[in-house]
Amino acid sequence: MAASSVIPSFLLFLFVAAAAAAAATAAASSNPNGYMHLRFYNHERILGSGPSATVVYAVQRRDSNSGAGFGNVIVYDNLLRSGVETDSPIVGRNQGMGVGSSLAENSGLTNFQLVFTAGKYNGSSLALQGLFPVAPLGTVFERAITGGTGKFRLARGYLLTTEVRATNTTLTGQLDAYITFR
Ligand SMILES: *[C@@H]1O[C@H](CO)[C@@H](O)[C@H](O)[C@H]1NC(C)=O
Ligand SMILES: *[C@@H]1O[C@H](CO)[C@@H](O)[C@H](O)[C@H]1NC(C)=O
Repeated sequence: MAASSVIPSFLLFLFVAAAAAAAATAAASSNPNGYMHLRFYNHERILGSGPSATVVYAVQRRDSNSGAGFGNVIVYDNLLRSGVETDSPIVGRNQGMGVGSSLAENSGLTNFQLVFTAGKYNGSSLALQGLFPVAPLGTVFERAITGGTGKFRLARGYLLTTEVRATNTTLTGQLDAYITFR
């Protein structure tokens, strides 16, 4: 009697564990390669665009409109919106810095935090690092997701960026974050 009640509960435990594992796999594999995919847009008011610029020089060793002058340091605090339009909902902020780290002055090293302020990731953040090239609009480039906080604890992955719209005061980039916790 005791033995027969032990076996079903053990099997039940196995079933529950298997179901939980299946659910976790299904959630994670709902995107290519099992990565969670988030898309949002970086809205920047560019360097030199006046008092409302969201990018400023911290160190300006060389004249360069791109901030990629060797030795220059820029600091930025851009808005993240759910869409490319300037009135689309705000989802967070992109706060960080860039260093002109290339002698050829064709890229900068960026180190930044995507801080979510709305939606299901409100209060959580992603930490990122990588090169930002001086390149034509539409160029896709990749940076590393090195960690996170809140719902993104232990996150890693990669971020693909494409600048999709530019005016003489603004630059708007599409950000695609591919995140894994493995
Ligand atoms: C995000 O979270 C903060 C802190 O909990 C809260 O004050 C704020 O209202 C939230 N924002 C949105 C848009 O939900
Ligand atoms: C930027 O473009 C607007 C028109 O879109 C123009 O009125 C303005 O003078 C330009 N500013 C600069 C600094 O070129």
